[in-house]
Amino acid sequence: MSTSTTYGRPNLLGPEWDRLRFKQLGWRLLPLRAFLGVTFLYASLQKLANPNYFRAGSPSSFVSQTRALESRSPIAPLLHVALHAPALFALLVALGELAVALGVLAGLWTRLAAVGGMLLSLTFFLTVSWSTTPYFYGSDIVFVFAWSVFAMCGAGGVLCLDAWIASRADAAPTYAPGSVDLVRRHLLVGARSATLLAMFGGVLAGATALLGRAAGGTKHAGGASLTVDPPSSAPTKHHNHRPARAPTNSAPPAVAAPQSGAPPPSGTALAPASAVPVGEGRTFTDPASGRPAWMLRPSPSKVVAFSATCTHAGCTVQFDSAANEFVCPCHGGRFNASTGAVLAGPPPSPLTQIPARIVNGEIRVD
Ligand code: FES
Repeated sequence: MSTSTTYGRPNLLGPEWDRLRFKQLGWRLLPLRAFLGVTFLYASLQKLANPNYFRAGSPSSFVSQTRALESRSPIAPLLHVALHAPALFALLVALGELAVALGVLAGLWTRLAAVGGMLLSLTFFLTVSWSTTPYFYGSDIVFVFAWSVFAMCGAGGVLCLDAWIASRADAAPTYAPGSVDLVRRHLLVGARSATLLAMFGGVLAGATALLGRAAGGTKHAGGASLTVDPPSSAPTKHHNHRPARAPTNSAPPAVAAPQSGAPPPSGTALAPASAVPVGEGRTFTDPASGRPAWMLRPSPSKVVAFSATCTHAGCTVQFDSAANEFVCPCHGGRFNASTGAVLAGPPPSPLTQIPARIVNGEIRVD
């Protein structure tokens, strides 16, 4: 008779009963496992398919988001290190999510994959969701604890390669149960499966990236930006300034010079008005704060500008020209693109408006 126990009591039905109970747990956890795997798969493929994620000038890029989060994250020094090699870290995040997703969906080294999912979710919590109040409005902390279930239990022997590997390794007649050789055989069979899964992941990532670029990436106007001199060379406020432009035939028309004797217009000149076509938006760096911002031109004579920093947790919003809204990629916040007012999601207040106007054919901001 077996001496195993269940909840501290002797289990008279033996270890086979324990295995059945564990398997039952695996079936019960299957919906959560599928949800976590599919969600991480989606997040990963979305990043890989979006060229703007890797394009430093885009507000939805890894660089822009990391810079926006750096000042308010408790792991700012780590973010600072990541900004030294942003393309590498952007790729690591996307491929890390993909590896975690494939591992947990296939049930291969499930505990290890779940630990990876916990670490990624914890990183997102300490950056993207750190300023979210109350804390449970941010989903990342929930993901941390959801992953912890699989870090502790694995896949429960249900629909997983872990169970298949164990049965194959145990089937070898030459190894004694619990021997070092048997453990080595487990690892060998597991490594072979992991290599095949990694090759599948590589093909999936490559195909997704190619398709994303062929489709032109996201429809947001994230790739275009106004050219503004860096803060060190920018003039102080209330000083006339005109940015240098390349002398090409396609260059925008020259801005009319103010009449002699007339007081110079106030504010900082960003670019000729023609740099922002009517009905479109461009990103720029707010000369006053050094933070990313959006410049929109709703009519030929009017421009409006807003800080691109979401008032919820500091992510950089994107402009959706079709809906005439700013959309926050972190928690789905949406803002009116004419007023900056909150339309949906958790942001507590409107986007900060930046005074902007067209003077003598050029865009100026205060
Ligand atoms: S940071 Fe949460 S909605 Fe923008």
